[in-house]
Amino acid sequence: MKTLQLNTEKIRKDFPILNRKANGKPLVYFDNAATSQTPQQVIDTIAHYYQNYNANIHRGVHFLSQEATDAYEQARIKIQKHFNIKVPHEVIFTSGTTHAINLVAHGFSSFLKEGDEILVSAMEHHSNIVPWQMLCERTGATLKVIPMDQNGELVMKDYHALLSKDAKLVFCNHVSNALGTINPIKEIIDAAHAVGARVLVDGAQAAPHIKADMQALDVDFYTVSAHKMCGPTGVGILYGKSEWLNKLPPYQGGGEMIAEVTFEKTTYADLPHKFEAGTPNIAGGIAFGAALDYMNAIGFDTIAQYEDELLQYATNKLKKIEGLKIYGEASKKAAVVSFNIQGIHPYDIGTILDKLGIAVRTGHHCAQPIMDFYGIPGTVRASFSFYNTKEEIDTLVEGVQRARNMLV
Ligand code: ALA
Repeated sequence: MKTLQLNTEKIRKDFPILNRKANGKPLVYFDNAATSQTPQQVIDTIAHYYQNYNANIHRGVHFLSQEATDAYEQARIKIQKHFNIKVPHEVIFTSGTTHAINLVAHGFSSFLKEGDEILVSAMEHHSNIVPWQMLCERTGATLKVIPMDQNGELVMKDYHALLSKDAKLVFCNHVSNALGTINPIKEIIDAAHAVGARVLVDGAQAAPHIKADMQALDVDFYTVSAHKMCGPTGVGILYGKSEWLNKLPPYQGGGEMIAEVTFEKTTYADLPHKFEAGTPNIAGGIAFGAALDYMNAIGFDTIAQYEDELLQYATNKLKKIEGLKIYGEASKKAAVVSFNIQGIHPYDIGTILDKLGIAVRTGHHCAQPIMDFYGIPGTVRASFSFYNTKEEIDTLVEGVQRARNMLV
């Protein structure tokens, strides 16, 4: 494959935070799966909003309110186009993926009954497990688990065997936050649809690496958090097919989500407003649009190819360290390396790396069932972005080697 060009030197200038020091050392930021860093263009968009047209949206006849409303709705259209969503009202702004998943789980309370089955994959984040357990408690439905194997891949033949006419909902992440596995979601979606089940894909970890096409996937629901893809925290989206968004009840009651309110009866607004009660994160929504502009200007094919190079480089170098084991060696992976060194607690490695200015995440990564599966308390997770470099990976590898020398 032809190597696509990525000018990391130029790109890194867009991220002021990458110039700072941590514990007196140049910051090496490898906690991108927890949250990505923010380019100046997105920071400027937020500042510009508050300096020039801060106003509430969908509520005012005045000039500023119109300007803010237009910018917010333009961002919705950018998101619609980015994910190839049929119409803008299928984009529901939320506070992030967790909010989006809870909205759908709440909505399905009146559609499920005892005997119905909900399938979740074995490699879900807690936010794609707990809301469905709560839904099962409310409805009497049963939760079933699609198993995974030692490589960190879903056992697809078991998934197909689990699907029956009782299966009503299937939940799976597009990319595992703890292992980096890219799951075969098209196969998962098509097989679920064949038995009449609906599918929600948690796209939080995929969206920074993969430009998912909602119409091609034919997925029923897909969730994204802006802060994983160069946007601000506190904003994300739920994509839903109109058919289902129209059927589901509102999640929260509030100001602008109504058509008419009397003390006897309230009717609800059309999509997307039915699900957008309360003043939203206006600057955040607009900045999410700016983040998509920023990443699309670089190009998702270029980003994916470059990050894959980083992943291969890091995997090969880390594997040479004695006693180091990588968890999650799926054939298709995003740029995440989860590992442990025999006899050392992940927290201790993370603490030494921190002293060297290297930011990684340690622990269960909000995916305890994965850690139970491997029989470990947690891992050290290094997750890469397009603004990272091979030199930074060399620093990580030296740091891990040093931690090993100190602790074994
Ligand atoms: N879900 C985020 C992570 O994996 C916070 O770190």
